[in-house]
Amino acid sequence: MTRYRPVCRVPATQRTDRSVSSRQEENPLTASNPSPGKRHVVAVFGANGHTGRFVVAELLRRGHRVVAMGRDFARLSAAFEQTEVELRAACLEDSDALGRALVGVEVIVNCAGPFLDTAEALVAAALRARVHYLDVSAEQASAQALFERFSVAAEDAGILVLPAVGFYGGFADLLATVATAGWAEADAVSIGIALDAWWPTPGTRNTGRRNTVPRVVIEAGKLAPKGAAGPSEWHFPAPFGRQEMAEVPFSEMVLIHRHLRAMQVRTWLNTRPLDDLSNPSTPPPVATDASGRSAQRFLVEVRARRGAEERRVTASGRDIYAFTAPLVVEAVERILAGGAHAGVRSVGEAFDAADYLRSLASHFDFDPSTLAADGAIRAPAAR
Ligand SMILES: NC(=O)c1ccc[n+]([C@@H]2O[C@H](COP(=O)([O-])OP(=O)(O)OC[C@H]3O[C@@H](n4cnc5c(N)ncnc54)[C@H](OP(=O)(O)O)[C@@H]3O)[C@@H](O)[C@H]2O)c1
Repeated sequence: MTRYRPVCRVPATQRTDRSVSSRQEENPLTASNPSPGKRHVVAVFGANGHTGRFVVAELLRRGHRVVAMGRDFARLSAAFEQTEVELRAACLEDSDALGRALVGVEVIVNCAGPFLDTAEALVAAALRARVHYLDVSAEQASAQALFERFSVAAEDAGILVLPAVGFYGGFADLLATVATAGWAEADAVSIGIALDAWWPTPGTRNTGRRNTVPRVVIEAGKLAPKGAAGPSEWHFPAPFGRQEMAEVPFSEMVLIHRHLRAMQVRTWLNTRPLDDLSNPSTPPPVATDASGRSAQRFLVEVRARRGAEERRVTASGRDIYAFTAPLVVEAVERILAGGAHAGVRSVGEAFDAADYLRSLASHFDFDPSTLAADGAIRAPAAR
């Protein structure tokens, strides 16, 4: 169980909700089937952050009504001056303000990290308000705490809680789900992540400092402390080729352990982005296209083994922060469409993983036609 450490730097006078009152007539549950012409209402907490802005843009692009939430009204105003989003400020330690800010909202996406400091308070508020909750945590301990603390309450409330639907976490869970499709059990699943650079946001740096919880892997089918692993190498498809790797498990361990039977799961990240991250002078990401994406390239390869059989699933794309937006918004769409089982779930467990990845095909390099019946996704052409 993690500790909730509220942080609020906003003077009380600035913590007013600008537009909550006009939405109070709406019931969140009935609003999940809006009448024709009425748009779904989706909130983003930490909306003014780097990732939050991508998520807001993706929700607007898909036609939703967006409530931009955060702890600092001035920062929200500055971030969304020109757009049609509603602004609602609420601090995590003020449960009444959180409750008011969630009125009329159907789904909330938490983009405020470290999630060890934000997720539990926000899930508790979401369950009280009967609002579906998603976050983009890479932190294992945060995801694990949500499963442990809220599984029963979420099922009882008929609400879906999806932790870690981001590049680190949910993406590997989806790829591993597809790679092991049809197998009762995998002997081993290895996840290799290659980045050509990592320009970290302040949130990433804060999270790295905050997240000192020892990491876990899957060994003998169970979550177990990560041992000391020496340097390794991985041969990726072009353009990455041979890479030096370090073992760095993220929240995907917790997600995969929820629903896939795999005796061993390990995650490796190439050392170059880790060098960027440990260098205090590495700058934050810089937009290099109209959508705000940086030039960063990623490639993720999942290798699943059962006896002598090995499957490889490979997917590549651009900008791990920007890519997290369509990844998590796809889950929002699927929740709003109905049919998913309430409770705390991993994204690969809650939805049809192959169909989910196919829906995202325009956002990363992966040809949906190569998604074979056996679950394999073959190496994509470079884009
Ligand atoms: N799993 C993944 O692949 C993935 C992908 C993207 C991001 N992330 C994670 O998402 C988090 C945010 O990243 P980012 O790039 O968006 O960082 P960012 O640009 O620095 O934004 C951080 C956001 O979180 C808010 N925040 C932080 N602590 C808070 C607290 N205690 N209460 C309320 N709000 C709080 C900040 O609010 P203020 O502006 O008021 O400080 C800001 O809106 C990080 O933990 C990062 O690791 C994960």
